[in-house]
Amino acid sequence: MNDAQARERIEQLSKDLDEHNHRYHVLADPAISDLEYDRLLAELVGLEKEWPDLALPDSPARRVGGEPTSDFPTVAHATPMLSLDNSYSREDVVAFDERVRRALDEGEAVEYVVELKIDGVALSLIYEDGRLLRAVTRGDGVQGDEVTNNARTIGAVPLRLREPGVSCEVRGEVFMTSGDFTDLNKRQQEAGRPLFANPRNSTAGTLKLQDPKVVASRRLRFFAYWIDLAGDRCGTHHERLDTLRRLGFPVNPKHALCAGLEEVFAFYDRCEASRDELPYEVDGVVLKVNSLDQQERLGSTSKSPRSAMAFKFAAQQVRSRLREIRLQVGRTGTISPVAVLDPVTVAGSTVQRATLHNADEIERKDIRVGDLVVIEKGGDVIPKVVRVVMEEQRTRSGPFQFPEECPACGSPLVRYEEEVSPRCVNPACKGQLKRRLEHFSGRNAMDIEGLGTAVVEQLVEKELVTDVGDLYRLDVETLAGLERLAEKSAENLVNALDQSRGRPFDRLLFALGILHVGSTVARTLAARFPSAEQLREATVEELEEVEEIGPVIARSVRDFFDQEASGALLGKLREAGLQLAAEPAAAEEPAADGVFAGLTVVITGTLEGLTRDQAGTLVEEQGGRVVSSVSRSTDLVLAGDKAGSKLARARELEVEVLDEEGFRQRLKEAGLPGP
Ligand code: IVH
Repeated sequence: MNDAQARERIEQLSKDLDEHNHRYHVLADPAISDLEYDRLLAELVGLEKEWPDLALPDSPARRVGGEPTSDFPTVAHATPMLSLDNSYSREDVVAFDERVRRALDEGEAVEYVVELKIDGVALSLIYEDGRLLRAVTRGDGVQGDEVTNNARTIGAVPLRLREPGVSCEVRGEVFMTSGDFTDLNKRQQEAGRPLFANPRNSTAGTLKLQDPKVVASRRLRFFAYWIDLAGDRCGTHHERLDTLRRLGFPVNPKHALCAGLEEVFAFYDRCEASRDELPYEVDGVVLKVNSLDQQERLGSTSKSPRSAMAFKFAAQQVRSRLREIRLQVGRTGTISPVAVLDPVTVAGSTVQRATLHNADEIERKDIRVGDLVVIEKGGDVIPKVVRVVMEEQRTRSGPFQFPEECPACGSPLVRYEEEVSPRCVNPACKGQLKRRLEHFSGRNAMDIEGLGTAVVEQLVEKELVTDVGDLYRLDVETLAGLERLAEKSAENLVNALDQSRGRPFDRLLFALGILHVGSTVARTLAARFPSAEQLREATVEELEEVEEIGPVIARSVRDFFDQEASGALLGKLREAGLQLAAEPAAAEEPAADGVFAGLTVVITGTLEGLTRDQAGTLVEEQGGRVVSSVSRSTDLVLAGDKAGSKLARARELEVEVLDEEGFRQRLKEAGLPGP
């Protein structure tokens, strides 16, 4: 084959494969067998290997997966990826409909589009000039991870739109069929790898795999349900679904345009009755106001649009034997009982643990170890023990005795009148500390990769860490001394900790794990009180003045800062160079001028002509910020005599270092007489 022939064949194959792909995924009308398709794809991959220059930029050959990715950059969403409010009953839906109508003009007609709620993972796809540019996971809704190379392997995701030149963002659900999920778990088992709990978890895990070839082998699927065409808000959602199909996206065929709730309920009933026939998991339907103009007028809360609502299917129930009741200590000291069960499959997942809620519930339902129990699981909720199958019990163990001591630290549990479970109030409880550390390192908190359960367990047990502030004092040597942590992983962890120092103040606030302060509340608080100092001084009344902050949250925030340990903790975090204040918004507060404007500076060692404090004041007067430890976010280190580990760290991180002479020079440049 010569060049010209190769070019022709490559172009023909690319075109044919795109077409077959479209027929398969969008039209559900394949013209060739899977085997035939794979053969054509293999031929294209082979030709492109031989003639790499001839490969088209969006070649279907890219679907087999390219080079492994080492990280997934964080990308901000153009508009937040919100979630949906859930309803579990017709009354909930009626109330939703009433809210919608009340918010619109009187007598205005409202139509709903009802779609299946697929139990997968949301993905945002950015197309520019007709080509797939980026794929981003939902993440925390504000920003997600870029997983473009992995998304390209999803057959149902068009690499090129069927109308050239279109730029848009498309969102939809990535999922795995029940069959592919079972096969995957079979392969996992054979290879001695851990099993996935359900198709959604395996989908989320697959999207974050480093090797796109493995992703390709997992056969992820995709249905689109949203498109943003450069902010255009005309027309209806139903029309948008047509647009999506026209552009080449698969849209779930099971959807209905409903003139009122009667039709909505009829569609819901049909879907629920046939849910087991679908080759993938669904956990309900989604109602969406059809008119985009009405959607716009209804707006959204910080969590979800007011124009849409999920209507969940009833949870599925199965029976299993209760083997043990385990007690878990939460990060705020609450003791939660967990049922350990014989494994059973329910709603597509293997269940071995279920919540027993609290001490009151165990007593009320008279649940005892050894009982046959009914377990209920709805899509994304934690499975729970509903009741004991009394007619099946022959001999029973005695009623469950809730312990009087904390299972983690042994201190006596306290039962407050208004609470349903006893609580451990020992501030030094190791059980609580472990959960606090896990929360602190979590993805939406400080996102410290490598600080998982096993490491946390050892850090606490070996008393290397007594609060989250101690994490920043750990060095590679100490960490490498832990079990199952190689030198390289220890280094990675120190780097991850370092990176986390730069996380914005609101993330830190959430990470502290203050009772009732979730990530949204943390953002709200940080916007009104942009530093730990200001928040610490805020009274309950001042806190309550903030919109969306009620008395319970206000009290909890106040209680947190009133604890003696909090002051010490904040001191440690400040010293470690964490962001205890929000970055001033650029527009509101222009960067100060001065020779050190905008720089984060560390001063170390003995200076000759001035004290470190004096040097610090000069830096601050010149627009810099002085912190005490060196990290990746440090811009400059002023090192005097006998500068030790901080100087070494600066060199390691290639941070600019100035000696005293250099420092004077800088000040002189600014026209200052110098110290
Ligand atoms: S619309 C504002 N439509 O459910 C959220 N979501 O809790 C807009 N989902 O994150 C989402 N099927 O991952 C929408 N037909 C559908 C859906 C769907 C599944 C998921 C999606 C979203 C979650 C909402």
